[in-house]
Amino acid sequence: MAENQNILTEEKNGVLYLTVNREDKMNALNYATLEELKGIFEEVADNRAIKAVIITGSGEKAFIAGADISEIASLNEVNARKFAENGQEIFAMIENCHKPVIAVTNGYTLGGGCELAMACHMRIATANAKFGQPEVNLGIIPGYGGTQRLTLLIGRGKANELMMTGDMIGAEEAKSLNLVNHVLPTKAEAMAKAEEIIAKIMSKAPLAIGMIVDCVNSAFLAEENGYQTEANSFARCVKSGDYKEGTSAFLEKRKPVFKGE
Ligand code: COA
Repeated sequence: MAENQNILTEEKNGVLYLTVNREDKMNALNYATLEELKGIFEEVADNRAIKAVIITGSGEKAFIAGADISEIASLNEVNARKFAENGQEIFAMIENCHKPVIAVTNGYTLGGGCELAMACHMRIATANAKFGQPEVNLGIIPGYGGTQRLTLLIGRGKANELMMTGDMIGAEEAKSLNLVNHVLPTKAEAMAKAEEIIAKIMSKAPLAIGMIVDCVNSAFLAEENGYQTEANSFARCVKSGDYKEGTSAFLEKRKPVFKGE
């Protein structure tokens, strides 16, 4: 993994840990940090040793308090479109990653931080996490896919309320709205929960996990027929050695050993 300025990376037991590390700026996502994320996810796709990713923020106060406002204070219509499209493209890479990506959100999870968390496959929050899309306070709207993913995750009425008021909600409310999967008291416990889920996923057939990502995502794409994607993906799974291994192991009453091929 290449050296990064704004994101700490650590690989352990097949899991890549990413920590957005701009604690003095509440881990705000500036352009350079987004570029680093892009490079990291390109490598995640190619590197067979990386089986899963956990993203968190440095310190206890914030996961990420949004896009870096110092960089978005002087946009014009042309570069604002590019700004949004660039972020959308990078977050789509995360959402489409064939390896599980879990956000462990501690503290402020706002604006682009909430959008990044929503692009991950699951979200685990600490009890002090606060979620919101406060862009309206700056006279703008979420631009990294938040208007779409928030609506899909929590439904139209609540998404409208959160985006139109800019209000923050706590971790328990976020859980009751299905914005987060689990809430744990501390960051260490939230991290342990993410690791527990990842360990379980890592014992399954990797190709099938990737197909689940494709199929779930296609349920949300108007131009795609999710049922068709599912049938195609299902057919791709049965071409794999892991399919033969999984079914044989069941019939032979033993544990499967998956190879990701
Ligand atoms: N972009 C750039 N800098 C940010 C930032 C952001 N999104 N969020 C926080 N910071 C910086 C602050 O400017 C401050 O920097 P400074 O010490 O150099 O002045 C530092 O992080 C600490 O933030 P501060 O506001 O002093 O902390 P707080 O505890 O009083 O408030 C927040 C925390 C998160 C409520 C507040 O910082 C905030 O509202 N941030 C903006 C959230 C937002 O609108 N996000 C969407 C952006 S599109």
